[in-house]
Amino acid sequence: MIIRKADFFLTAVLKSQYPLDDRPEFAFVGRSNVGKSSLINSMVNRKGLARTSSDPGKTRTINFFNINDFLYFVDLPGYGYARVSKTEKASWSKIIEDYLYTRNNLFCVVLLVDIRHEPTDDDKIMYDWIKARDKKVVVVATKADKISKGQYQKHISIIKKKLVMDAEDTLILFSSETKYGREELWGLFDNMLGI
Ligand code: GTP
Ligand code: MG
Repeated sequence: MIIRKADFFLTAVLKSQYPLDDRPEFAFVGRSNVGKSSLINSMVNRKGLARTSSDPGKTRTINFFNINDFLYFVDLPGYGYARVSKTEKASWSKIIEDYLYTRNNLFCVVLLVDIRHEPTDDDKIMYDWIKARDKKVVVVATKADKISKGQYQKHISIIKKKLVMDAEDTLILFSSETKYGREELWGLFDNMLGI
């Protein structure tokens, strides 16, 4: 897809705040700090569009980004961040679950895992949940610039094994630093959308 427009659209906590139209939504999920907001910025070539931080827990609401007046990228808070209070954790999970469980416009879930680490139990739960809901899924291994290419295959195997990934599902290696994987991921999105 050629990006003609990529704008912040709105931020939501409650379901009543989600966009009212029925454009397809690509939701980006994964642990805090895995690189969700950075990936969105790389995909649309806009550095500061989604706010990023080296401190986990940067994204705390659901942010909708309007792409080409055609679809939304949906940046969600991360899960699994140990250093927040129980109440805060519960409120983030509610925000994420409300969206994932009820949003009919949800077209594809992009599950991000850090290429360097074995996916966590939470990642596995998320993958299984997406599959159970019959949503389209793409797994993205982020921060590919952090390991050498010679190590890729080993890490791919670890990720596929832990998630028990279906052979039909795609795993894409990605780096927001180098844009590695960007074209491949757009190719996949375009395919899913039939464009
Ligand atoms: P939360 O909003 O807290 O859930 O985090 P997030 O998943 O949105 O992560 P974010 O995009 O804010 O990135 C977290 C940190 O990882 C930042 O310091 C980024 O610069 C860094 N980072 C993200 N992607 C990459 C990447 O591909 N390569 C490298 N080297 N660093 C990355
Ligand atoms: Mg974020």
